[in-house]
Amino acid sequence: MKYSKIMGTGSYLPEKVLTNADIEKIVDTTDEWIVERTGIRERRVASPDENALTMAEIAGQRALEAAGLEPSDLGMIIVASTTPAMVFPSTACLLQARFGIHGCAAFDLNASACAGFIYGFGIADQFIKTGAIKYALVIGSEVMSRIVDWSDRSTCVLFGDGAGAVLLGPSEEPSVLSTHLHADGAYHDVLYLPLNLTKTPSVESLMMNGSRLFKLAVTILDRLFDETLLANQIEKSELDWLIPHQANIRIIQAMAKKLDLSMDRVTVTLDKQGNTSSASIPIALDGAIRDGRIKRGQLLMMEGFGGGLAWGSVLLRY
Ligand code: UT7
Repeated sequence: MKYSKIMGTGSYLPEKVLTNADIEKIVDTTDEWIVERTGIRERRVASPDENALTMAEIAGQRALEAAGLEPSDLGMIIVASTTPAMVFPSTACLLQARFGIHGCAAFDLNASACAGFIYGFGIADQFIKTGAIKYALVIGSEVMSRIVDWSDRSTCVLFGDGAGAVLLGPSEEPSVLSTHLHADGAYHDVLYLPLNLTKTPSVESLMMNGSRLFKLAVTILDRLFDETLLANQIEKSELDWLIPHQANIRIIQAMAKKLDLSMDRVTVTLDKQGNTSSASIPIALDGAIRDGRIKRGQLLMMEGFGGGLAWGSVLLRY
């Protein structure tokens, strides 16, 4: 039996910081409301010359360097993004060209929104486990600042820009233990980004029923954790880290409580970065690996949840 394992990680955040005080000048909101309801204090915003491709390239390059690999080693590039550089070709193909490599599989995943990175990770894991490919680069890269309505206080305060990447490769020892991917299109109207090709510009703004989504997230993630632990016959007390999608600190705290994990065993980046959609998990993972909090041998659970609705988890021994 072959397994996949994380060989290296990387991330990138734009330099520009937009604080809650800055947002108070744009819409009718307060730092107090944003911090209390979401945990977010500031977020990063891409400059006009940055996009999902430029950020993916830097994060991907950093993951390759951390793994000690070259772009020519890659058998697959997956870019999870709801804000790709172009509708087509995929940001993954554009990245392949920037890397100067030819022939490996390269595609984007946009349908699963904030769960996109977990979906990409699950797909790459299957290809590596079967021996079909050796190395896969899985990236989440988002410029959420370009799809929020900056006059809508209920959404514009929540999101941020950035990219995170994971380099997956083969392992003889068990490392990625299981991946769990799910969706329920019945909830398509809770979080969506309309595309109206009869209009210019045709991409509209992100729409969200926040309180409904909040309740769904808590219920669905609760079930997802049970499923993940049961599938691996492990107890929650064995977990070392939870790396959750960064949507709301209250959701993250509820999930930590469910798993009996203290908050210092949970990666939290949303205070400084907001919700970076499919980039949030690999950015948080990379940060905690690089600063030494997450160590080899520890048991990690990652979870993603977003538009679709789509959600998923990964259990792995790092
Ligand atoms: O990444 C994908 C997954 N995303 C999620 O899971 C997000 C889940 N949802 C949430 O995180 C929360 O629902 C929000 C943070 C989006 C909203 O928090 P809430 O506690 O559910 O607030 P609410 O939407 O129920 O709104 C409460 C009040 C409303 O006023 P009224 O109707 O009670 O007078 C809103 O108009 O807060 C008002 N409000 C604001 N006030 C100040 C909404 N946005 C703001 C704002 N500043 N930015």
